[in-house]
Amino acid sequence: MRLDKFLCDAGAGTRSEVKQLIRKGAAAVNGEVEKAADRKIEEYDKVTLYGRALSYQKFRYYLLHKPSGVITATADKRERTVMELLQGIDVRDLFPVGRLDKDTEGLLLITNDGELAHRLLSPRKHVDKTYLVRTKLPMSEEALERLAEGVDIGEEKPTLPATVKRLTATEIELTIREGRFHQIKRMLSAVDNEVVYLKRLSMGTLRLPTDLQAGGFRELTEEEIRELRESTCKPQNERKVQ
Ligand code: URA
Repeated sequence: MRLDKFLCDAGAGTRSEVKQLIRKGAAAVNGEVEKAADRKIEEYDKVTLYGRALSYQKFRYYLLHKPSGVITATADKRERTVMELLQGIDVRDLFPVGRLDKDTEGLLLITNDGELAHRLLSPRKHVDKTYLVRTKLPMSEEALERLAEGVDIGEEKPTLPATVKRLTATEIELTIREGRFHQIKRMLSAVDNEVVYLKRLSMGTLRLPTDLQAGGFRELTEEEIRELRESTCKPQNERKVQ
C-alpha cells in the first residue's frame, strides 16, 4: 500500500492533507523521514507521524452527540448533515448507523464497518435502543403498560415489547428493540400523546457520554467496540414496566 493511503486509512487526514504532511517531512518509515507519498508500505514497516506510531486501521468508529437541526445522511444539497459535524475527520467512507430524525438528539454511531452496522440494524438482532422521551400530555399508567406490551402503529404487526421507565409525569425512558420509521413518535401517537423532545441515550452497550456536548464527537474506545460487537449476538426480548 502507498504511504499516503496508509496514513489516510489510519485517520491522519484526507489524501491531500496527508500528502502535505508527507511533503513537510512529518512521516517516517522505519525511523527515516519519507517524503515520497507513493512509497510502498509493507506489513512489517513501522510508520510514524510526527514521531507517533501509527497502525493500519481498517475500521473507524465515532460516537456523535447529534444535535437537533441536522439530518442523518452522508450528503444533502440543502440541509446540514451529521457528517459535517465530524470536523477534521476524513469522512469519505463513513456512514451513520441507522437514522435519527432531524429534531432528535443523542447518540449516533458513525463508522465504515458495514458488517457491524448491519448487525446493529438487523431486525433479528433486537438491539436495545433507549430514548429519553418528553411528551405533550402526562402519561397514564395504562399508556405505559400499552407501550410496554406493544402498540398498533398502523403496520402489519404491533411493536415488539418494550421497557418503559417513568421519570416524571411527562418524561419517560423507552427502550425499543426495533428501528421502524419514526417508531417512538408513532408509538406515542398510538397512545394519544405526542413527542415534544426526543434524545437517544444508548444503542446496545453504547451509552451517550454525559460529558459529550451536543454536536461533539469522539472515537469509540477498544472496549466499547468489543462490547458493541458482543451485544449484537444476544437476543433480548423481555417486556418490563419499571
Ligand atoms: N423514533 C423516532 O420517532 N424518531 C427518531 O429519531 C428515532 C426513533
